[in-house]
Formats: sequence, C-alpha cells, structure tokens
Amino acid sequence: MSRFHWTCESTDGAARAGMLHTSHGPVATPTFMPVGTVGTVKAMTMDAVRSTGAGIVLGNTYHLMLRPGAERVQQLGGLHKFMDWSGPILTDSGGFQVMSLGALRKLDQDGVTFKSHIDGSTHRLTPESSTDIQHKLDATITMCFDECPALPAAPEAIAASMRLSMRWAARSREAFIPRAGYGQFGIVQGGTETDLRAESVKALTDIGFEGYAIGGLAVGEGQELMFSTLDTTVPLMPTNAPRYLMGVGTPDDLLGSVMRGVDMFDCVMPTRAGRTARAYTERGTLNLRNARHANDARPISPHCDCLACTRHSRAYLHHLFRANEILGPMLLTWHNIAYYQRLMRQIRAAILEGQLEALATRLRAEWAAEDW
Ligand code: GUN
Ligand code: ZN
Repeated sequence: MSRFHWTCESTDGAARAGMLHTSHGPVATPTFMPVGTVGTVKAMTMDAVRSTGAGIVLGNTYHLMLRPGAERVQQLGGLHKFMDWSGPILTDSGGFQVMSLGALRKLDQDGVTFKSHIDGSTHRLTPESSTDIQHKLDATITMCFDECPALPAAPEAIAASMRLSMRWAARSREAFIPRAGYGQFGIVQGGTETDLRAESVKALTDIGFEGYAIGGLAVGEGQELMFSTLDTTVPLMPTNAPRYLMGVGTPDDLLGSVMRGVDMFDCVMPTRAGRTARAYTERGTLNLRNARHANDARPISPHCDCLACTRHSRAYLHHLFRANEILGPMLLTWHNIAYYQRLMRQIRAAILEGQLEALATRLRAEWAAEDW
C-alpha cells in the first residue's frame, strides 16, 4: 500500500478535480461524504449507500466511544468490518460534537470533560485520547481534536479558541501513528476573521498533515460570510493536499465552495431531510407530506436512478410519510444521497471539461425553476 495522498487531475478556476488515494481505495474529488454518526448512515443499508456512488463515509468519535465503545469496535475488527463499509472512513474527533452538549461540558487547556447524552456518565476527551480512539476505530482519515467556538463571539475569544485548537493540533499529530494509506487532517479555525484564519493555516502547515479541513463555518454566519471566509482562507492552503469543509451544506453551498477550491464535504442535511419528508431535486426541494403529491404518479425526479425514483411514485412516498411508515425515510434518504452524489459527479465532470461556470449557471436556474 502506498502512502495516503491526493492528486490533482484538472482545475477550472479555483475548483479542482482530483483523486484521493487511501488504504481503503481511491475516492474521486470533489466528494460528498454521507454521515454515519453511530456506524450507520441512518435509514440506509450499506449496499444502498454504495449504489449511490458514495466513495467515503463519516463516523463520529464522540458517539462511538460512548456506544458501543472504541475497544469493542476494535475487538470486532474495526469500524469498516463492524458497519460493512470497505471504503475509506473519516472520523470526526469529537470536539465539535461535545461542544453542542452546551452545559454538559467543561473545557480546560488539556481537553474537555463532558457528560454522556445517553446516560449522564462522565467522560473526557483530549487530543491524545481522541486520536487513540480514532486509531481503535481504524479510521482511514483521523481528524485533529479541536474546539469550534459558537458564533457570534468576540474576536479575542475566537483568537484564544483558535490558538488552543492549534496547540491541540500539534498534540493530535504527536499522538497520530502513521500507517501506509492512512491520513490525519488538521482543522483550520478562526471564525470569520481573515488574519486569524491565516494564522491557523500557518500553524497547521508548519506541523504538516495529509489534508486540511476548514472548521468553524456553517454555524449560523450565513452563506455570504461563509463564502467570503473561503475566499480569503482557501488560497492560503496547500495546493497539493485535500481541503475539507466540515458540516456543509446545501447543494448551492457545495457548488459555491467547490468553485472556491474545496474538495470534500459532509453534512447531515440529505439524510436528516430524508427522514422528515424533504426531497432534494434538480428543481429545488419538495415536501412529500404536502397534499399536492397525494395523487401524483410521477417519480420524485425523472433524472434519478435511486430505488424511490425508479420504482415508486410521489403519491406512494406521500402515503408512506402520512402513514408514518419506516419505508418513507428509507426511500427518501436513499434518494437524497443519490441526488448529492449525482450533483458531485456532475460538478467533477464539468471541472474536467472546463465547464464549471456554465454548469453553475444552469444548476442555479434549475434550482429556482418550477417543479417539472
Ligand atoms: N463539524 C463541523 N464543523 C466542525 C469543526 O469546526 N470541527 C470539527 N471537529 N467538526 C466540525
Ligand atoms: Zn431518486
């Protein structure tokens, strides 16, 4: 097995089409990673996830350490075997998930002490323990343990938090055990402050990682500020390593971010929306609970090859959601992940042809157009 690396195949403006080479196989970028928080992409079988063309999925240190526990996953052969996903897995480090516990957590310079959302028991995560847990899970890509400050916050608070995350990044790197085909990503912090983002990129590139993530965005700042932060941050990042925008986003967010040089994404949006009757399509979103779908014999999308679209009508999906049948979330999650993967393939193909600007114009017009 060769080393973990990313190769650029083609650029179109700031956008890049490339290939990520890992111990668990290659992944074409730009790529969207379905979220498999607790070792399952909610409501989907792994065969269904594979059938959408997804190349890499995400898991969470925080959730898996609490249940079923990292040691247990390790004893059972690692997360790939445990969840039946032979492709690459990226695990988030837990910092971000612990932050959302609010009052249940206590931060110090060394790490975070928190209470489990499951049974209230006390746990602790540090850069060292988070990295160790990710090793036990056998994550293909390990994320640095970081702190993501809630926005809005005072610039001094964002600076102090970013510098803490950079000290933790150095400790995460120390704790990382290099293995062929495995990688570790640093996480750029610094809110929407250009100088703090620049300081963070410098700190991480001085340490040196296999890839670089942009954290601390999509936390309520809005698309315009997120894009302007990418405009000033991404050009400072290494050109020979993958760039991952964490927790993003809508189809329009993905398109705009790829056009600013981002290669990887994850977000609960398509899976969460699928469980609440919301469908992403080439013509924007639909709510399948809406009465206007009750008699509609058409598929959700005429362009989709997912099971929901090839075998079922909007009327049937509407019925399933109205009747609270579990197949509704299953079919619609499948559809939404299939849509996100199709979008990323379209974007990648356009980059290779130097046609991304034209595709963007067309996609945006179609998202705003009437339903078919
Ligand atoms: N997911 C979304 N944003 C973040 C972030 O800033 N840090 C981490 N670790 N995960 C995230
Ligand atoms: Zn579909």
